Amino acid sequence: MYTDKMLRDDALKGRNIVVTGGGSGLGKAMTRYFLELGAKVAITSRNLEKLQNTAGELEQETGGTCLAVPCDVRHYDQVESMLQQVVSAFGKVDVLLNNAAGNFIAPTERLSANAFDTIIDIVLKGSKNCTLAFGKHWIAQKQDNTVVLNIVTTYSWTGSAYVVPSATAKAGVLAMTRSLAVEWAKYGIRFNAIAPGPFPTKGAWDRLLPGELREKFDLAKKVPLQRVGEHQELANLAAYLVSDFAAYLNGEVITIDGGEWLKGAGQFNILEKIPPEMWDMLEEMIRKNSGK
Ligand code: HXC
Ligand code: NAP
Repeated sequence: MYTDKMLRDDALKGRNIVVTGGGSGLGKAMTRYFLELGAKVAITSRNLEKLQNTAGELEQETGGTCLAVPCDVRHYDQVESMLQQVVSAFGKVDVLLNNAAGNFIAPTERLSANAFDTIIDIVLKGSKNCTLAFGKHWIAQKQDNTVVLNIVTTYSWTGSAYVVPSATAKAGVLAMTRSLAVEWAKYGIRFNAIAPGPFPTKGAWDRLLPGELREKFDLAKKVPLQRVGEHQELANLAAYLVSDFAAYLNGEVITIDGGEWLKGAGQFNILEKIPPEMWDMLEEMIRKNSGK
């Protein structure tokens, strides 16, 4: 049921989409579904061989058109060149999905200045570079009905210890999403963000849950729904947000985390640990103490 596909056939036909970090993990899963829905997709990241393998595999699987374009999103000139290559190949581009990211767990005092910069540069500067290049292009071309979808995290607004560069950068991406949703609406560009909870991928799990941390910190246990996300669930939401069905949705961040971050936030959520049979005794004590 969690892997069912949501949108009707051809829902993205005629739409050309760029997915940064599309060669692996969640970017690959979203790309697969966009192709199944009839979009043409360009995937981009630093590793051309990985991109070509993914593009070949997904084209074969879906019968769609998937273009591999190398680009390090930290460099504006590479982003401009990537955009030109996609426009040359597809004629136009309609959607930018800022999904590329870098991250690893570390106590902040152990980070070199360059380590902190590296994450900020991939996540915040990379999303900025792509957004600015694509936005300028769309505005100059007077091309409307365009979409930027940013992948953030739930700690974009709560912050999180031990992933401070990522939290700092993702907060910036969220601010950019909401700011440009207003400023560039007049050009017909919609901005939204998705904040995923735990969706296991090799890229994230190798860097956030190395070795025995994987068993020690079972992320499914932190989720009220007691499970991690299925990639198709995220792909369903992303496909909806970039489609015309979401034409009135602008400036929103949609959390898809099974309730994970709220579980950590609610002051008395910890009472979940109280066994049901204890509630009779607790109620009695409360009534007695309050004279009821
Ligand atoms: C401390 C570290 C480190 C570590 C690297 N560095 N790893 N410092 N602890 N574990 C330091 C290096 O020593 C160097 O600093 C600086 O960081 C840059 O490292 P490089 O290896 O030169 O950088 P680069 O080759 O650009 O690789 C970037 C990377 C790498 C982020 C370090 O992991 C990567 O390519 N990641 C891409 C994919 C990824 O991270 N996916 C996960 C996204 S998950 P010095 O000072 O020595 O030069 C995600 C999910 C969030 O975002 C929410 C989940 C629930
Ligand atoms: P992933 O597979 O490691 O994806 C990250 C992608 O970013 C890789 O394909 C990587 O490709 C690309 N990338 C890294 N640096 C780049 C650069 N400088 N230029 C261009 N591309 C670059 O991890 P993932 O879990 O799928 O993460 C995808 C997105 O979801 C990220 O934004 C992440 O923060 C977000 N997210 C994930 C989870 C989760 O549970 N998995 C939860 C919340 C948010 P190359 O190495 O080839 O460059």
